[in-house]
Amino acid sequence: MGAAIGSALKAAAGAVVWAAAGRSPATSKRAELADLVAVPDLAALARRADVIVSICPPHAAREVAEEVAAALAGQDRRPLFVDANAVSPATVQGIGELLGPDRVVDGAVIGPPAWEPGAAVLWLSGAAAGPVADLFAGSPFDARVLGPQLGAASALKACYAMQSKALPAAWRAIADAAAAYGVQDALRGQLARDGVQLDTALADLERRAGAKAWRWAGEMDEAADTMAAVGVPDGFSRAAASVYRRMAGGGTG
Ligand SMILES: NC(=O)c1ccc[n+]([C@@H]2O[C@H](COP(=O)([O-])OP(=O)(O)OC[C@H]3O[C@@H](n4cnc5c(N)ncnc54)[C@H](OP(=O)(O)O)[C@@H]3O)[C@@H](O)[C@H]2O)c1
Repeated sequence: MGAAIGSALKAAAGAVVWAAAGRSPATSKRAELADLVAVPDLAALARRADVIVSICPPHAAREVAEEVAAALAGQDRRPLFVDANAVSPATVQGIGELLGPDRVVDGAVIGPPAWEPGAAVLWLSGAAAGPVADLFAGSPFDARVLGPQLGAASALKACYAMQSKALPAAWRAIADAAAAYGVQDALRGQLARDGVQLDTALADLERRAGAKAWRWAGEMDEAADTMAAVGVPDGFSRAAASVYRRMAGGGTG
């Protein structure tokens, strides 16, 4: 996703830089193919960029923002910081406290990494959401401003993820329980009578989550926090996080 967003910004930004320290050869290759310019680390990036876009696994979002804050400490420059990760509103509001709420924009991508228009929407909220949306004009990302409230874009993404990631995880739990009780064939037939093809649902989940299950677990943790913060039951998302940890081979979490 970082390569696609970086590429989308090239027309408006001129040069798009990315922080190479600690990143794998696979990330490096994607950045190179997207024609992004490597700088050594986040500190070098923070000293140079006018707009910083954070795209990383949800669990690392706070840590990335802290590194940027440390790099900017004592400087007059206050670049815009866009957190485009699938985190909770509380996480992005905490990042706002760290970097200044007027300089942080909440971003949430719904859709795959976009190389052509029509595939993905980038929802933005916060005081500077408008100017950030303008940077994506004419790019493959359909940037939409949700309003001035920091956290609104992340809230939208977390609610959407209940449908796109929490509900599909139920098929894995249903199938595992049925297999443990030895009733999977009967269940498969019973569901088919209702027009539900269990194997198709499981294959679809495997295709979508597959190698990304570990990252989806982190996203479901953040979605659960989003629900709990407004008194909505968070068990669906917490259970989905456990399912994805199991799929990733990390136990029940
Ligand atoms: N892919 C999608 O369809 C999609 C859709 C909507 C939203 N998003 C959001 O976009 C973000 C990134 O997702 P992705 O699909 O690009 O994931 P990804 O393909 O797994 O890539 C994650 C990137 O973050 C880097 N990274 C790992 N740990 C990091 C850390 N501690 N600090 C900084 N960077 C780190 C990884 O580098 P290494 O290679 O070194 O590990 C990799 O370049 C997530 O918040 C996700 O929710 C993705």
